[in-house]
Amino acid sequence: MTKLTELLGCKHPVILGAMGVICNPELVAAVSEAGGFGLLATAFTSDAEFLRKQIKDTKELTQNPFGANLQVMNPLTSELINILADEGVKAVTVSGGSPKTIIPLLKDKGMKIIPVVPTVDVARKSEALGVDAIIAEGSESGGIQGFRGASTMVLVPAVVDAVNVPVIAAGGIADSRGYRAALALGAAGVQVGTRFIATKECIAHQNYKNAVIDLNESSTQLINLGAFRVRALSTPFAEKLLSDPSQTGGGFSGQGIEESWLKGDMDAGFLPAGEVTGLIKDIPSVKDIIDEMIQ
Ligand SMILES: Cc1cc2nc3c(=O)[nH]c(=O)nc-3n(C[C@H](O)[C@H](O)[C@H](O)COP(=O)(O)O)c2cc1C
Repeated sequence: MTKLTELLGCKHPVILGAMGVICNPELVAAVSEAGGFGLLATAFTSDAEFLRKQIKDTKELTQNPFGANLQVMNPLTSELINILADEGVKAVTVSGGSPKTIIPLLKDKGMKIIPVVPTVDVARKSEALGVDAIIAEGSESGGIQGFRGASTMVLVPAVVDAVNVPVIAAGGIADSRGYRAALALGAAGVQVGTRFIATKECIAHQNYKNAVIDLNESSTQLINLGAFRVRALSTPFAEKLLSDPSQTGGGFSGQGIEESWLKGDMDAGFLPAGEVTGLIKDIPSVKDIIDEMIQ
């Protein structure tokens, strides 16, 4: 089996989880500079050329490799793939559905394909499509989820037993303890989201970062948004929706995200975060986190 670091061309098997608009080039580059693998996120990208700009901005900050996340539901996906290939990006994670329809395009461009999966069944189906590695994302993870899932502790070894490609553990990993636990479960590496929100390089608003460090391990909720669920901080905004789901409103729209994640209006939208928020107590640099993790 190819080592994950060889597959991605990085020093440490630590991937920055895609996190929408807060995967800013400074954060992505900082992860790659620290020896991990930064990922640009395109789930909310509505202008393909914006991705080209983000790639160029990231390249100004690091010469190390980085990748991108594709959400199969984004109607711009084919265009985004062409831009990624033009700009020399060599690996993508794929979430939000089966990568089946875009695999021929990605293979044609010679890109490594790493789907994010919530179950053993989806992991097996993905492997059969010829993917290069699999991210097993446990249900304690921050962000969007489906309606079936299992925690990282159960999902990762179950997926490791079921497939022959490298498995990357996601969900609940914030430090060297989580990293070592993931390796002990058979993972070849980790994907980390929430821990990287509370970093100096992340563009998330200070209110979002403070909420991540102030709240505890039971301060997140899975909120049903109809087509999917999102694990987010239990802010008054989220609590209101739990008691009256008809008020979903624009909390997960582009505008709600901009106002809450970037401008710090805690009443404008959800603030996705994982249960691991209970282990995050400070706002260090990305390098400090990765150095401690892989020590
Ligand atoms: C704010 C936020 C936004 C996210 N957006 C995406 C996304 O656009 N695409 C994706 O595949 N995963 C997304 N995720 C999931 C992460 O990439 C990662 O798998 C997850 O955060 C790992 O769990 P952790 O939060 O416990 O570290 C998001 C997570 C967070 C916290």
